[in-house]
Amino acid sequence: MTADPRLIVPLDLPSVAEARAMVERLGDSVSFYKIGLELLATDGMAFAAALKGQGKQVFLDWKLHDIGATVERSARVLAQAGCDLLTVHAEPQVMRAAVLARGGSDLKILAVTVLTSLTDADLVEMGYAFTTHELVARRIRQAVDCGVDGVVASPHEAALAREIAGPGFLVVTPGVRPDGSAKNDQARAATPADALRAGASHLVCGRPITAAEDPRAAALKVVAEMAGV
Ligand code: C5P
Repeated sequence: MTADPRLIVPLDLPSVAEARAMVERLGDSVSFYKIGLELLATDGMAFAAALKGQGKQVFLDWKLHDIGATVERSARVLAQAGCDLLTVHAEPQVMRAAVLARGGSDLKILAVTVLTSLTDADLVEMGYAFTTHELVARRIRQAVDCGVDGVVASPHEAALAREIAGPGFLVVTPGVRPDGSAKNDQARAATPADALRAGASHLVCGRPITAAEDPRAAALKVVAEMAGV
């Protein structure tokens, strides 16, 4: 059994050297990696280029959020890096700028609707008159209207995203936990098969794989759980 291109492993490790070592250990069991702010803040972009050179797919989790002109210029630079996915916050101005910048490149833009760390009370504190569920639904609709390629959604929002956006839209779900594994800090986790059945196109599964004694075997276990769904 080899990699399932719908499985994305986040390299949430303290250094590029450790991330590189993890990629080596995972070998052909994983073909898609997410690079987050911690590595991007050092030499994560050079590492992304190296991963692309090895034939891997790369998700740049930059979560861009700025005035439209700055998002557009930044996304244009990132589109030239030849990576596959880029996150931006789901504000219409930001999403439109990123879509314009990616143009006809291979880069797909993913909108982060509402950070899953935010509660209804946090939204009130921030001045929103919506519950998290209402704001997620509203932002998925706006993402579709802005021409964004997909959204990041918890497994519990995946069905909603699929229902609003229809087939072909990317629905990338973190909070995926194989049967019997520790939930860590993921409050609303789902198994790989359940997340796919709910409408996810891609799964982000990190610590159950990267913190395992045998990461390659753990990745293949997730791939096996995804098979046939
Ligand atoms: O280790 P674990 O599988 O929990 O990693 C999940 C990854 O997905 C982390 O990189 C985390 O930052 C990211 N993420 C998340 N929840 C979101 C958005 C992103 O867990 N709503």
